[in-house]
Amino acid sequence: MSQKTKIAVFASGSGSNFVAIAEACDNGELNAEVALLITDKPEAYVVERAQKLNIPIAAFSPKAYGTKEAYEQAILERLKASDVEWLVLAGYMRLVGDTLLQAYPSQIVNIHPSLLPSFPGKAAIEQAVEHGVKVTGVTVHLVDEGMDTGPILAQEAVRVIDGNVEKTAEAIHAVEHILFKETLHSLFTAK
Ligand code: GRF
Repeated sequence: MSQKTKIAVFASGSGSNFVAIAEACDNGELNAEVALLITDKPEAYVVERAQKLNIPIAAFSPKAYGTKEAYEQAILERLKASDVEWLVLAGYMRLVGDTLLQAYPSQIVNIHPSLLPSFPGKAAIEQAVEHGVKVTGVTVHLVDEGMDTGPILAQEAVRVIDGNVEKTAEAIHAVEHILFKETLHSLFTAK
């Protein structure tokens, strides 16, 4: 079997996608290793989840750095020290800047809870429900300098349930946990 792909997961929130990816690495569905969790929110629930899974955590507080460049440079040094090959954004609530984009060209992947280009940015599920669409979904895409604008790798539709954000979010997360690992598997197999 080919060598495992070393990835870093970037997350700022609860981390259900982080856990799904870590489990897929663990059970061999994904020929990869989560070398690091990178977070900008040391208090996020994802940190607790990474501790339980014994995955190394690197927390970087953007406020501690004068510029976005300095913040990303510090992250980059940590990524290089762990030989990370791909960056996987799973609820990372920041725009990726030039420092990381140039260091990982076409090797940064994001998951977004809508059928892009509809409803980019924050609160995509709320936006879809407020808009009254009947079908929304999940998109996995490569990251560029825009907000949820990079080349689309995979999409899956999800019905809006009863015009209800919580119920729809639950259905979306269930799809995310499968679509993300499958898309990463295809990417890493093709590399
Ligand atoms: C997901 O819905 C993902 O699409 C979006 O942020 C959410 C993260 O959820 N980018 P979780 O922290 O993985 O549970």
